[in-house]
Amino acid sequence: VSVADLRGPGAPAAGGTARRHVLTARTGTVTLPAGRPIDAWSYEGRLPGPAITATEGDLIEVTLRNADIENGVTLHWHGYDVPCGEDGAPGATQHAVRPGGEFVYRFQADQVGTYWYHTHQASHPAVRKGLYGTLVVMPREERPEAERGLDLTLPVHTFDDVVILGDQEGRAVHDARPGQPVRLRLINTDSNPHWFALVGSAFRVVAVDGRDLNQPGEVREVGLRLPAGGRYDLVLTMPDANVTLLLDHDPDQGILLRPAGAGGGDRTLPDTGDWPELDLLAYGEPAPVPFDGDDADRHFTIVLDRALAMVDGKPAYAQAVDGRAHPSVPDQLVREGDVVRFTVVNRSLETHPWHLHGHPVLILSRDGRRYSGSPLWMDTFDVRPGEVWEVAFRADNPGVWMNHCHNLPHQEQGMMLRLVYDGVTTPFDSTSHAH
Ligand code: C2O
Ligand code: CU
Repeated sequence: VSVADLRGPGAPAAGGTARRHVLTARTGTVTLPAGRPIDAWSYEGRLPGPAITATEGDLIEVTLRNADIENGVTLHWHGYDVPCGEDGAPGATQHAVRPGGEFVYRFQADQVGTYWYHTHQASHPAVRKGLYGTLVVMPREERPEAERGLDLTLPVHTFDDVVILGDQEGRAVHDARPGQPVRLRLINTDSNPHWFALVGSAFRVVAVDGRDLNQPGEVREVGLRLPAGGRYDLVLTMPDANVTLLLDHDPDQGILLRPAGAGGGDRTLPDTGDWPELDLLAYGEPAPVPFDGDDADRHFTIVLDRALAMVDGKPAYAQAVDGRAHPSVPDQLVREGDVVRFTVVNRSLETHPWHLHGHPVLILSRDGRRYSGSPLWMDTFDVRPGEVWEVAFRADNPGVWMNHCHNLPHQEQGMMLRLVYDGVTTPFDSTSHAH
């Protein structure tokens, strides 16, 4: 099978609708709502790109066009387990779309939750410059508007000297009725972790990387460290006083939720930098998982470190995998149906947010300590200096998949390899020079 033939369906599931978008990538100044001009690369001239939303079972169809991004662009659906031919990985699943060209992506919205999209061609610096947007899929069963409450999708992104949360810099204000449910969908579209802290209310982390946790308990006064590429969905009930979401412990960045009708009045914010970090490996309640990660069919060890290796044909002090840099890191070969285990070892002094395309991984342990909370499925997990993570997944989505560090400068400096299914080939191989 060729990845070129592993494409999505042409129609939605019964009862679903087709959600069609055209996203044109271009260079040019984008003016933020508060008036600041940003010299950007964007989809549709917007930062972030147009929000893509759907209901479970809908068909998402996005036509990508490239106006003038010289190196080409793609759309990668981060964390969304699309058929491989829709994955937007140049050199593996398609050729990058050159200026004047287009590519149509189609896939069914069958994962509910919070995701995002970005270009995968020269992702550093193209994502940093603005080629990203959000993808949120709602469950099919309709709940009345009132019950749904306030639902905010909040990607954090850093342009050279400006941080925006959603589409605003500084602190945005939203009104909520006391008693109303509030959902905050936090998305880290940067290459380094961000900290969030919620002041003024208890809350639950109901989903990580789009996947619901089992019985997440109420917490308060904890710090949330969100890996590059990752997502946390927080849920709270609006109290009758102000609630502040702080970003990176900075009182001037984040969100202020004001109880509608009340004057509120700004409270003095505590120093959230002292709050303990919420450990997701011990959060929520255990539940059965669909396979035994200790009884894997394949086991790969991935050692992350700096090393002298070839990058783009030149020797470099690379961000290496097992001492080599992409594309010289050997492929990981799997067979459909395998339970695959990764041991990810960080021997370097930097954090590596590890991201496998096409499959969420189940976290088994960190530094030998097994998870004791809810089963935790992630598509991007932070392996900090010195740490060893054990994760596993079922190889149930045939293709040629990128497997890489989501600190995009690290990815560019070689920290990437491919996971290849037995019997699947790619005509887009970056090393084949076929184009
Ligand atoms: Cu978010 Cu390989 O990407
Ligand atoms: Cu890295």
